[in-house]
Amino acid sequence: MSTDQIARTFVEYYEERGHRRITGSTLLPPPGDPVLFTTSGMHPLTPYLEGRPHPLGRRLVNLQRCLRTTDLDEVGDRTHLTVFEMLGTWSLGDYEGPSSLEWGYGLLTEGFGVDPALLHVTVFGGDDRTGPDTASLELWQGHGVPVELTVEDNWWSNGPTGPCGPDSEIFLWTGDTPPRSTPTGDDRWVEVWNHVMMRHRRLADGSLVPLPQRNVDTGLGLERLASLLQGRTSVFECDVFDPWRRLVPVLWPLDEPSLRLVYDHLRSAVVVIGDGTLPAPTGRGYVLRRLIRRVLTVLRRDDPSRGLGDLPDELVPHTLDHFRQETDPDTVRRVLLEEEHRFDRLLERGRRVLARPRFRGPLGEEDFRYLHDTHGLPRDLVLSLRPQ
Ligand code: SER
Repeated sequence: MSTDQIARTFVEYYEERGHRRITGSTLLPPPGDPVLFTTSGMHPLTPYLEGRPHPLGRRLVNLQRCLRTTDLDEVGDRTHLTVFEMLGTWSLGDYEGPSSLEWGYGLLTEGFGVDPALLHVTVFGGDDRTGPDTASLELWQGHGVPVELTVEDNWWSNGPTGPCGPDSEIFLWTGDTPPRSTPTGDDRWVEVWNHVMMRHRRLADGSLVPLPQRNVDTGLGLERLASLLQGRTSVFECDVFDPWRRLVPVLWPLDEPSLRLVYDHLRSAVVVIGDGTLPAPTGRGYVLRRLIRRVLTVLRRDDPSRGLGDLPDELVPHTLDHFRQETDPDTVRRVLLEEEHRFDRLLERGRRVLARPRFRGPLGEEDFRYLHDTHGLPRDLVLSLRPQ
């Protein structure tokens, strides 16, 4: 199944069960939201989880693009991407957790053909404030799916305050051997789908109060499920990366970890620009700037002549089309190239400044501060020019 077919199958399955499709939002949260980027499908729905009636009713389904910078250092492993798509379903005070898990099990095993013997789940085991999630436990036991009980790993919240609750996570076995151990004991169990029983709100003092309604919020990482259903070993090998894998290694023969970083960060940069962000010294624009500069640093490491002007034409429109963005591909390319020029000028300045006698020896904290404050040279750039 292609990624598009997986998304369609998912949405139709829930539409047949009374869910209305909402249009996923852009990566940019609504004004006033303290978070820089949309980080999960539930994020734009927060007011409705907190009780405001949604115009399309109590059962919703969507496909939402998300960006997570907390995972930036994990990019390049088999399962994490900076920009990814999340399929989500919501019960806004309608059905409860067991119905959600029942449908999830049905879709995975019958809709997507996953062998039930390759499933493991985790369930909230209870703590001093909230009891164990026995309803989820019983549902899974009824299907004979092995359950691991945890505490912190099975409590989902989007931040220190706001809607939160116990969750049940569904894992798929990806090893070559028959399944063994448990999700926390063996990382060949890969999490694909999280069902959150979102019925609490955490206040600033850490206490929990019930939300006005008992919700269920689920999120499934599309590229991750696609790579598993397509029998691939990493998200970078699912079909959405086909053109990247075909065109980039011949142009820039890098090692596999560097290629993954280039695919992930460039594709993410295209989507962020496509949603209307420009590189800047702070905020969202700074995240974009870091993505582009990390790519340039990797590209130039063994060949300073490499540049984004050589990026094959197909990749920008392919990415914009996939994310249903209408931004002109030439505009995206122009933004990338302008940022590259700015980076080149900065590198040049950095080399000139670092050649001064004052910086011959090892650099201390005061040097880094001076280089940053007076010359606009960030620490990671200084380190790339002068490894310590
Ligand atoms: N909010 C949960 C998550 O992001 C489920 O959608 O994992």
